[in-house]
Amino acid sequence: MFNFVFHNPTTILFGKDQIKKINQLVPADAKVLITYGGGSAKRNGVVDRVKAALGNREVLEFGGIEPNPHYETLMKAVEVIRAEGITFLMAVGGGSVIDGTKFISLATYYPKDATDLLYYGFRDITPDVVPQVIPIGTVLTLPATGSEMNNGGVISYGKGKFPVKSERVYPQFSVLEPEITFTLPPTQVANGIADAFVHTMEQYLTFPVDARVQDRMAEGILQTLIEVGKINVEQPDNYDARANMVWAATMALNGLIGVGVPQDWATHMIGHELTALYGIDHGKTLAIIYPALLDVMKKQKFAKLLQYAARVWNISEGTDEEKADAAIAKTREFFESLGIKTRISEYGLNKTAVDEVVTQLEAHGMVKLSETGAITPDVARVILEKAY
Ligand code: NZQ
Ligand code: ZN
Repeated sequence: MFNFVFHNPTTILFGKDQIKKINQLVPADAKVLITYGGGSAKRNGVVDRVKAALGNREVLEFGGIEPNPHYETLMKAVEVIRAEGITFLMAVGGGSVIDGTKFISLATYYPKDATDLLYYGFRDITPDVVPQVIPIGTVLTLPATGSEMNNGGVISYGKGKFPVKSERVYPQFSVLEPEITFTLPPTQVANGIADAFVHTMEQYLTFPVDARVQDRMAEGILQTLIEVGKINVEQPDNYDARANMVWAATMALNGLIGVGVPQDWATHMIGHELTALYGIDHGKTLAIIYPALLDVMKKQKFAKLLQYAARVWNISEGTDEEKADAAIAKTREFFESLGIKTRISEYGLNKTAVDEVVTQLEAHGMVKLSETGAITPDVARVILEKAY
């Protein structure tokens, strides 16, 4: 197991009727900006519940943060914050609103052109870069990204999606009320399951480092998502199934299963280009790329693939090669069982997409991906051709 430091400061308020508790967690004298997306959080009454819980505090709203939040939209919120002297941000939404709010928090006190912040990648944005951030609380409306309990975000700018990370943008607290997610359309539920599944795999299916706790926690999350995945898509108001999905998605990317182990993230980086170029939902891009990536990287990942086959899918028949192939096939079938198409060609794109994605990966410096750096643009091309 590799060395690690683990610290996660986010308080989780999980279950029914939790929003009212934020009254104790937001400073009494805070001037609050509620950030939200295209309107679902207004329509289902969650923004109003947050306002009610905030009581007498001065509260402003900023709506219109789009999926794959755009830099330009977020900078409009920064202007409001600077003009109004906002001291606390309440993000009400899915990954896009929460990620966008993290960026808003970082950009407000950045003294220069905030596009600079898009080029730190996975490096921490430290106090010498951004001297002050605005504290964040969240109410999660879409279980998927783990953004409600982690320190990262992904921001769209031009033709790219840029990871942004800072230890100081962990939400101070996040409300996870599974019932809030009942209004999600089935396609977003499916996206969320695929996203949480691939987050787990990016940290689990690499090479063995004898990290038994992390491995078994990851396998538990994967098995849970397999058990409850289809139920969640088909029964939007099944509380127990949704509660398990919500917690699995949070646990998949709050840092816990990723400590001390190698991490891959190639599927995410390739998937981000598919979203940036063609607008395919984040979760769907992962379901397209991941089975093809496993196929191409089978040799590099062989030991963990066999562990995954045995422990997650209970595959015991055949040669090792057959077991690995069966596990990859099961993975694709799982995504398809949620109603997600797993081939690029099924999204109305022609084969030039393969070249376009490779060109963008190169433009963004994504030329040594995966846990070993072995996914060069040439290897990415093979993966994309297989995924087509
Ligand atoms: O905008 P509104 O009207 O709210 O509608 C949203 C949006 O259209 C809708 N929605 C959300 N909650 C709802 C709801 N509709 C009805 N009822 C509800 N309760 O769902 C749509 C998609 O929302 P979005 O926030 O974009 O989805 P998701 O949570 O999947 O977030 C995707 C974004 O997160 C980034 C992705 O790149 C993408 O930009 N990621 C962030 C990560 C992180 N911070 O750690 C990691 C991930 O790998 C991912 O890259
Ligand atoms: Zn993701």
